Amino acid sequence: MSIIIRRAEEKDIPVLEELFLQFSDWPLQREQTLRNIMKDPTSELLVAESEQEIVGLLHQIFFLDPFHAGLNSHITSLFTKEVHRKKGIGTQLLKKAIENAKQRNVVEVHVDTEEENASAIAFYQKHGFTKAGVMFETNP
Ligand SMILES: CC(C)(COP(=O)(O)OP(=O)(O)OC[C@H]1O[C@@H](n2cnc3c(N)ncnc32)[C@H](O)[C@@H]1OP(=O)(O)O)[C@@H](O)C(=O)NCCC(=O)NCCS
Repeated sequence: MSIIIRRAEEKDIPVLEELFLQFSDWPLQREQTLRNIMKDPTSELLVAESEQEIVGLLHQIFFLDPFHAGLNSHITSLFTKEVHRKKGIGTQLLKKAIENAKQRNVVEVHVDTEEENASAIAFYQKHGFTKAGVMFETNP
């Protein structure tokens, strides 16, 4: 299976919206947000493509962090299509995200997942991520 990891483009938006609907419980309209992300220099939206089909995506943001006196990165979304899992696609997306972080001299790459997502936790640990804290959220 040959996989290309590339930046998402405007033509991908309908497929990306569909993918987010598959992976999120929230039936949101994401077209404008995706468009904005693609123009945003502090974001990277990567897709994994196999035989003209988008089979996974990763969104990563970059932000200045005074605590670490430099640039940090957070992976906000990573998922691969269920039928294409365990073929190395998630790994390729994650490696590219880390490579992008290196190129930008990022100090740390963060990612979070739900506590019960054992497979994602194992996946990140396998790729060298260590548990660094607990995440909280609120709706402002
Ligand atoms: C987490 C996730 C992104 C991993 O994606 P993936 O494409 O399955 O990742 P990989 O194929 O690179 O690695 C997964 C496993 O397949 C194995 N694998 C990779 N290539 C393989 C191959 N050719 N044959 C057999 N196994 C293989 C890997 O070793 C790894 O094994 P492990 O589960 O024992 O660690 C995917 O499971 C997913 O989308 N989950 C739902 C969303 C999610 O939880 N996202 C992350 C948190 S927000």
